[in-house]
Amino acid sequence: MLDKLQSLRQEALDALAAVKDAQALEAFRIRYLGRKSEFATLLRGVGKLPKEERPRAGALANEIRAELEGLYTAKKQELAGWRQTRTAVDCSLPGRRTVPGHPHPVTRMMEEVCGIFEAMGFTVAEGPDVELDFYNFEALNIPSHHPARDMHDTFYIADSVLLRTHTSPMQIRAMEAGEPPLRMIAPGKVYRCDSDVTHTPMFHQVEGFLVDRRVSFADLKGVLGAFVAQVFDGDVPLRFRPSFFPFTEPSAEVDIGCMICRGTGCRVCKQTGWIEILGAGMIDPAVFTSVGYDPEQVSGFAFGLGVERIAMLKYGIDDLRLFYDNDLRFLRQF
Ligand code: PHE
Repeated sequence: MLDKLQSLRQEALDALAAVKDAQALEAFRIRYLGRKSEFATLLRGVGKLPKEERPRAGALANEIRAELEGLYTAKKQELAGWRQTRTAVDCSLPGRRTVPGHPHPVTRMMEEVCGIFEAMGFTVAEGPDVELDFYNFEALNIPSHHPARDMHDTFYIADSVLLRTHTSPMQIRAMEAGEPPLRMIAPGKVYRCDSDVTHTPMFHQVEGFLVDRRVSFADLKGVLGAFVAQVFDGDVPLRFRPSFFPFTEPSAEVDIGCMICRGTGCRVCKQTGWIEILGAGMIDPAVFTSVGYDPEQVSGFAFGLGVERIAMLKYGIDDLRLFYDNDLRFLRQF
């Protein structure tokens, strides 16, 4: 009996080793582990053995059956593509860190810009992205027939409703709501139908303005100079170029030396070595009149700066569109 069991075991092991698919495995099960298997027959025979032989034969038979069932299950999992998952745990390995999110570079730049002006005593106000023609143009001395409207590639929503093309409407909203002296910045999104290396259809501006008695262009220069020195740690050339905006007179565009090429010329600065970061000027008397201020009594300056432009220069990024491609390899660098 014991010999028979041993040879049946060997036969089953050889058969199992040859099993290559689920069908063969099922045949194996029926043949060696099923109720009508040779093995089952042998087991039943154990009861008919002489009393003193029964324990050993029974124990061996059970042992072999357990072994074969174990091997059968393992084979079944192997065929189903399961992997052995019993791996050793090394408690001394450092844990896996979850990488927390962080502010987008544009958000960060925006906060930094606002922080610098807040430290100079400017208050912060936010206004609507969907704006009325009146605030975006009319009250800023840009009547409907004015050619300056061509400078703004405006997205219209209805006849007199649009996506603001700049943050300057906040000058009007703030002056309507308050009395001088005012010292305010207004950060936010602006929209223009424009897209290339230095333009995206949506970008961010920070508007700044100061209204009081006897405000001069020198005050504007002082504030902007202090701002640029702080953002770029002091070593950036700055130049004021005469320009035109309907809502400021005189007006200027302010350039800083291109930090990508350090002034030698590249595609970002269009080979000039300078890049425009903001428009500014003394608030036009017509603007004061439109909000009911007396231009004989008050004066002020205003400026609007492009947040992405400043971020590009500060971080040395040569394509504005990178900010909006949502490429994690880019974003993780900040
Ligand atoms: N609003 C102007 C622009 O978007 C910038 C500007 C703001 C100019 C304030 C002068 C004064 O181009």
